[in-house]
Amino acid sequence: MEYQNYQRDTSLKFPKGFLWGASTSAYQVEGGIENNDWAEAAHEGKFPQAGEACNHYRRFEEDFDIAESLGHNAHRFSIEWARIEPEEGKFDEKEIKHYLAVLQSLKRHGLEPMVNLWHFTLPAWFAKIGGFENKNAPMFFARYAAFVTARLGSGAELWLTLNEPMVYASESYLKGVWPPFRKNIFTFIKIQSRLVTAHNLAYAAAKKISPHIQIGIAKNNIYFASDGKWWNGLIKWFVRWYWNERFLNAINAHQDFIGLNHYFYKKFGKKEKFPQSDRGWDIFPEAIYHCLMELKKYGKPIYVTENGIADEADTRRGDFIKNYLQFVKKAIDDGADVRGYFYWSLLDNFELEEGFSKKFGLVQLDPMTLERTIRKSAFVYKRIIESQSVC
Ligand code: BGC
Repeated sequence: MEYQNYQRDTSLKFPKGFLWGASTSAYQVEGGIENNDWAEAAHEGKFPQAGEACNHYRRFEEDFDIAESLGHNAHRFSIEWARIEPEEGKFDEKEIKHYLAVLQSLKRHGLEPMVNLWHFTLPAWFAKIGGFENKNAPMFFARYAAFVTARLGSGAELWLTLNEPMVYASESYLKGVWPPFRKNIFTFIKIQSRLVTAHNLAYAAAKKISPHIQIGIAKNNIYFASDGKWWNGLIKWFVRWYWNERFLNAINAHQDFIGLNHYFYKKFGKKEKFPQSDRGWDIFPEAIYHCLMELKKYGKPIYVTENGIADEADTRRGDFIKNYLQFVKKAIDDGADVRGYFYWSLLDNFELEEGFSKKFGLVQLDPMTLERTIRKSAFVYKRIIESQSVC
């Protein structure tokens, strides 16, 4: 895809060149990763083990065959830092070759890659020195980012440095439910600024080496609303700024596009009842419209880098995709420069602290045999892609 040649289409159809795909993350699908903080926590019995996960590390060709057969023209995946830099300062060429093969395969399948450098998991050595609490952490991350983009930058134009920094800071340092299981509001705040610096340094280093690449982050933004009471309006205003905007503002001079991961709606005050996913999350498609419109003011291209539903029975996923995409289209019509949509996820995978129990996949995975079966809803998405429209 020529990033510059992107054209806006004002008809009922999605804009020309729109990217349609699905998203995955290394630790959740690859399998065989033992040297990161999540694997270590799993060994200590704090989590289920990811083990072989989907064995995507070996079966990526097959998975990309499926994505291509479903009409996708793009795919978002992440690189496991612990594979590339298993020991501090030692970079593994064999793993670079692996990800090069992944990129080549994506190209062969007509799938535009979006490469994410970090999706929550830390190399064990980095976790041991304090992870992002370490004052040199941004430098370590930027060095890793520079190494990877130097080797793989020619294979992909769209890059993400961080996945959901606010979610990471809050799960790991405020709620204390992800490694390193801390509950300290001051560390929670400190981690956010470390991640800002990590991103900004990584951006500068990667752009110096590969000026052509486009770099953003995947930001989990929530639609915050209130019941109209002034005090709830005030809380909403503050929380929206703190959660949705503060991080983006801090990296604004260092990002070429914005990735939106969208799952949540939060209303302060009396709340309506919505249908829910298997994860217990509200299904409220209009929420994505508001999140996209909030991002319009940054004046940058936007990609929906994640949006999806846990729905084992596959009775709600088709409508979910259709209805959320209807609101994505509305945001485009109302001036948000949205250029792609990546459903989470291509296949059922290791759903973090939930283990394998929650099924987000367009493709069902048999946990015993790892057999892949395409779900009906994947064809709903396929028809939307083929017609380039949700009407
Ligand atoms: C994360 C994914 C996760 C998904 C569903 C997102 O916030 O980026 O890693 O699987 O939510 O829980």
